[in-house]
Amino acid sequence: MKGRLKSYWTERKDLVDRALDALLPGESDFPPILHRAMRYTLFAGGKRLRPILAIVGYEIAGGKDISEVLPFAAALELIHTFSLIHDDLPAMDDDDMRRGKPSSHKVFGEGLAILAGDALFSHSFRLIAEADAPAEVKVAVIREITRATGPEGLTGGQVLDLISEGVEPSEGLVIDIHRRKTAALISCSLAVGGIVGRAGEDLLSTLRQVGAELGLVFQITDDILDEIGEKEKMGKGVKKDLERGKCTYVRLKGVEAALSDARALRDRIKELIREKIGEEKGWVLVELADYIVERSE
Ligand code: IPE
Ligand code: IPE
Ligand code: MG
Ligand code: MG
Ligand code: MG
Repeated sequence: MKGRLKSYWTERKDLVDRALDALLPGESDFPPILHRAMRYTLFAGGKRLRPILAIVGYEIAGGKDISEVLPFAAALELIHTFSLIHDDLPAMDDDDMRRGKPSSHKVFGEGLAILAGDALFSHSFRLIAEADAPAEVKVAVIREITRATGPEGLTGGQVLDLISEGVEPSEGLVIDIHRRKTAALISCSLAVGGIVGRAGEDLLSTLRQVGAELGLVFQITDDILDEIGEKEKMGKGVKKDLERGKCTYVRLKGVEAALSDARALRDRIKELIREKIGEEKGWVLVELADYIVERSE
């Protein structure tokens, strides 16, 4: 990440990290082992893409007081972290490393990892309920999040990902998995920011659409990085997808074609942003599209 995107990101990431710390129960609250496990993966590192997208959506909608969107942004990171803890479990991807550290179940055991994930998911809705925002905003946010995380989104996508291990991938299947397991929450994050910033229906549907395409290209890049990325930069194991026979974009087309498709999709996303949001308001998303495809972390 470089230039003005980097300073935009660093400033907002700092706000998100502080909000997460303030909005989570203390490490020694009862039962301490649960609270330690919740905080362990949450603060292990992580780019904070989803909460920052919520802030981006809020600012594009014209929101001026970032503190208004922070509890919602934090809720999205709790949900994402819950999905990572469960994704790494032996019953799912069986990954030993996450965010540069041993995975939750490696440190706390499987039972605690499952329960820490549950508690993070549940706490996210408490943050929304207790946020300082009108009830209709909160209900709209809950609707957005539950749709993105349920059978149509993350959970359904994780199911398809799991039951498709070892299956010969078709383009339709891979894209369906990616749109659900990853793109739905990324799209939802931009839209949640829009909702809190009181975006109108037109802007909301643009935010959802841009977010969904960014999410698709994000997961294609994740598949590429699993194949050619460095473990140290990624903070997680690499070359795991092939080993497990995952239906990834790389398995479908190979690294070269995956990369050129990702770049072509990125170019279309940038056009879409310029056309529907404009360069002045949408520059963060335009630069983010480049970062997502060219990242190494
Ligand atoms: C990893 O997400 C899981 C995917 C959806 C590909 P990130 O790459 O955003 O992981 P963190 O939050 O930075 O650790
Ligand atoms: C991301 O897919 C799925 C989630 C929704 C957590 P992956 O299984 O490819 O993510 P990584 O590579 O383990 O981070
Ligand atoms: Mg997975
Ligand atoms: Mg995984
Ligand atoms: Mg992956």
